[in-house]
Amino acid sequence: MEATPIGENLSFRIRSQKIDAQSRRNQDIFTRNLTEALDMRRTNQSFFLALQNTWQVSNAVDFSSNDILSLGSSGILRTEFLSELAKYPDFTPGACGSRVIDGNSLYLEETERRIADYHGAETGLVVSSGFEGNVAIWSAIPRLGDVIVYDALVHASTREGMNQSLAMARKEFTHNNVESFRSTLLSIADSQPLIRQGKRCVIVAVESVYSMDGDICPLQELVDVAREVFSEAKGIVQFVVDEAHSTGILGKQGKGLVSELGLEKDIAIRLHTFGKAMCSSGAIVMGSSTVRAALINFSKSVIFSTAPSFPFVAAIRAGYNILPTPEVDQARSHVQHLTRTFFSFITSHPLWKTAQDLSILRIPLATSDWEAQPFMTHIAPIRTKEPYHYWLFFHLTFAGFSVFPVDYPTVPKGETRLKISFHAKNSVEEVKCLVDSLFEFVHEVIEMQEGVEWKNEVPRAASQVYDWMEKEKLVGFGRP
Ligand SMILES: Cc1ncc(COP(=O)(O)O)c(C=O)c1O
Repeated sequence: MEATPIGENLSFRIRSQKIDAQSRRNQDIFTRNLTEALDMRRTNQSFFLALQNTWQVSNAVDFSSNDILSLGSSGILRTEFLSELAKYPDFTPGACGSRVIDGNSLYLEETERRIADYHGAETGLVVSSGFEGNVAIWSAIPRLGDVIVYDALVHASTREGMNQSLAMARKEFTHNNVESFRSTLLSIADSQPLIRQGKRCVIVAVESVYSMDGDICPLQELVDVAREVFSEAKGIVQFVVDEAHSTGILGKQGKGLVSELGLEKDIAIRLHTFGKAMCSSGAIVMGSSTVRAALINFSKSVIFSTAPSFPFVAAIRAGYNILPTPEVDQARSHVQHLTRTFFSFITSHPLWKTAQDLSILRIPLATSDWEAQPFMTHIAPIRTKEPYHYWLFFHLTFAGFSVFPVDYPTVPKGETRLKISFHAKNSVEEVKCLVDSLFEFVHEVIEMQEGVEWKNEVPRAASQVYDWMEKEKLVGFGRP
């Protein structure tokens, strides 16, 4: 492979999946057992790497990072962060204690109040990550005898939290399917007398935007169904909405789906995370003062972990200082414009129908009515057949696009996709080049399948990678 940062990045990725049973034999038992477990990952090329993506090491166009509003890459968040720090020249870097002992501070409490006010919530509790926030919620909030109902595609952190919960049962409903949600609630109403009598609760886990599919939760419809099924006893069904992928992006001033729908009073708990469009880290769990007290009392990570540090909170606060500004408003509109431009270019391309008919390209969100949607998320997953997803990944990588292949175990087996995200720093021209490149790939595959000009068994980029793999004696990644 070429000695460029992109070539090196790709060859490192591929080499890292190699199983080396020979060298395993010389390891001590501790290392050998771990290596064996890791090799299971390598057998289907799902061994994770902590690697810098191509946009970080080359001039590849970033269609993968979570810096959606480009608050990080534009430098505006850094400027605001430095000025926030400058307001408190005597700050102590660490919190020096857990939230329930010495780690609390006025600055942290004031920040929580400001953020809760911004989103129209009663209270907020800042935690060290969205993952921890979900674990805190699900391990602390459901009580004995409650039932959790969750969308099939909720994040790993919600599942992790649910595993620790006291709830009596967990019921999954089909992703974003209102009828499946209704029948799940009806079956609970039928089978659980304590819930029917209003003595226990149903707690529902959904996300405003699903990160791997880019679709939006039909939240209003779900709330309506809950009211309809349990019309007798108010408050039996309570919702927890994870707004990780809508924070800063969806709704007026990026306040999220719950605010956009005016459901602030109907949703018990919201989780907003700051590691994505807000370009810092951490999260806030928002709800009533009772919910906040329950988290502080029952969540082990709140009780037994050091409270958020000053610089950490200052970065979050800096993000909220700039979130309502016209500059960020413009960034938000630009991302929306780019997303719609992408769908428009894709669906008007002369090869679009053939690409779908031959299953070379499938973009589930590019439905016939996408234009009628008032809001399209910045996430556009691209599906293709296996092993075409490897070929498409190689193709886009060589074409200079940083895209992210998502494989099992992040998504279910057989549902591999390339996840594309649009950013404020991307241009219409870059989106056009991306679409052109996608259809170049489609064109090559059609030629390959029809044996017209292109006589090879695989497209050009894959052929280049496979030639290199052959020399290196590497297998996998769809290499025939
Ligand atoms: C829906 C959802 N919730 C929670 C998280 C975890 O957030 P964090 O990265 O802040 O731990 C993620 C991260 O990918 C997510 O996609």
